[in-house]
Amino acid sequence: MPDLTTQQNGGPAHGGPQTRTESQLRKLDGIKWSKYGDAVIPAWVADMDLAPAEVVTDAIQRVLDLGDFGYNFADVDQLLPLFRQWQDRYHHWSPEESESALFCDVLHAIDIALWLHTKPGDGVVLLTPVYPPFIGAVNGAGRKIVSVPLTQPDWTLDAERLAAAIDENTKVLLLCHPHNPTGRMFTQPEREAIAEVVLANDLLLISDEVWGDLLHDGPGASSESPDRGRHVPMASIDGLAASTLTVTSASKSFSLAGLRCAVAHLGHHGLRAQFQELPKHFLGAVSTPGAAATAAAWSQGHEWLDQTRSFLTDRLDQTMTLVESRLPGVTMRRPEATYLAWLDVSELTPVIGSSPAAWFLEHGGVALGEGTDFGPEGSGFVRLNFATSPAILDAIVDRMATALDSA
Ligand SMILES: Cc1ncc(COP(=O)(O)O)c(C=O)c1O
Repeated sequence: MPDLTTQQNGGPAHGGPQTRTESQLRKLDGIKWSKYGDAVIPAWVADMDLAPAEVVTDAIQRVLDLGDFGYNFADVDQLLPLFRQWQDRYHHWSPEESESALFCDVLHAIDIALWLHTKPGDGVVLLTPVYPPFIGAVNGAGRKIVSVPLTQPDWTLDAERLAAAIDENTKVLLLCHPHNPTGRMFTQPEREAIAEVVLANDLLLISDEVWGDLLHDGPGASSESPDRGRHVPMASIDGLAASTLTVTSASKSFSLAGLRCAVAHLGHHGLRAQFQELPKHFLGAVSTPGAAATAAAWSQGHEWLDQTRSFLTDRLDQTMTLVESRLPGVTMRRPEATYLAWLDVSELTPVIGSSPAAWFLEHGGVALGEGTDFGPEGSGFVRLNFATSPAILDAIVDRMATALDSA
């Protein structure tokens, strides 16, 4: 395949996001570009194809240049104050440093919270379809999934269905907010319905807000909601912080997942006490490069992120246009958040079968996320990661269209 160079909207402003060419991306050992080999264009796992922010590479370069690989807590010590400032600046929420803690990654904090707060057989509510590791975390801990399907076609929350799903064994609501894979930003009434159910049933709300920075503005984003385009942390809702564990990281906004650094606000008193009682080394620790990168992102990454958000909204517009013009039979609801397109391909089932991502991989050479990995409600859907260059995005949809044309 020819090298797909970047032009048009991919052109970076200084300090802003830089796209990478296909040949640059194919040199990476990361899972996204290496798993399926050179014949396939990957659009599955949620990593961006952008070059890292310069402030991030500078921070890691400094660690390298100094050879500063011994015990080093300087970067780590900055993280909780920086987390608070970042949340305050972007989301008008100011999580107390004394109530927050570092984790190796977001799933690490979620797993530990499930183990500490629930016992085998307890129910954990998931709003489905949902990020597959949530399903794995609940099953892996031997807890019971209480699935509350979101309502199609807009994947809205049915508050009555949520309330009716809870019984005395239900202990946790594990929320993806904003929501992966649908890209929903829950509206104020939806957030309030969640809060009401959590408080009425004394649930622990685990709110994974790793996508909270990546909201889209622009035509079609959200509805007439007063907070259109703004992420509202669940713990900032009146009275809810004491029931909530908020987990997040810079790993989606700055594509740092491999560096392993996350933070949680332990608003729930009982859970905070349980975490504080754990042996000192039980939680592991954040590495110097992970801490340096996250600290740089949260202290100096504003300009990069602001430009990246508008780059991603341009890619969203491009994806919508391409899907509409090139993929008849495929429909896409415009997500308010994330860089994930949740494509409804159910109309094509008679042609491509019930494992559509596997079909596009085999017939189109494109790796997408399989809808059913996100739960049975994902049947007839595929997830496409559009955080790539305009040229690669064109090529992804072109391959899908060509495969369908010859089916
Ligand atoms: C909802 C959600 N949570 C967590 C993660 C991963 O976070 P981490 O690698 O820090 O565990 C992802 C990655 O895509 C995600 O979509």
